[in-house]
Amino acid sequence: MKVDYPTLAATIASLTEGETDEVALMATVACEVHHSDDRFDWTGFYRVVGPELLKIGPYQGGHGCLVIPFSRGVCGAAARTGEVQLVPDVEAFPGHIACSSSTRSEIVLPVFGKGGRLIGVFDIDSDLPAAFTEEDSDGLSTILDSVFGGL
Ligand code: SME
Repeated sequence: MKVDYPTLAATIASLTEGETDEVALMATVACEVHHSDDRFDWTGFYRVVGPELLKIGPYQGGHGCLVIPFSRGVCGAAARTGEVQLVPDVEAFPGHIACSSSTRSEIVLPVFGKGGRLIGVFDIDSDLPAAFTEEDSDGLSTILDSVFGGL
């Protein structure tokens, strides 16, 4: 099963309509995205909770690390740079944090609220090598922007 981003975006829009609570929105997005595609083995959010500090948010899959400083890992790089991190081979990424030894590739997107406020990052890990493409980056960015962009 492979995700159809327009359908996924429409489902998420109807489920989250009128909701403004960040955790409720993250939980719904993590669930819907995770179950939309067989490539996605861990799907979830890390929230900005302090200066240069991320903590785990709603997710689907096995347990994730609880705390990630901006200086570490792929999630930290997305938070630090504000740019999408497409990592085809996690072993080639300096400082990658391995929470599951089966993870081979990942994508991490920054999540912005109103006025470019950094709310957190959205991380999807796959057990397949080079699982993610620009199509994922574009489709997920559109969804994140429409759900969180006004908060
Ligand atoms: N993808 C991460 C860590 C994995 S999680 O804790 C699920 C990173 O290196 O930032």
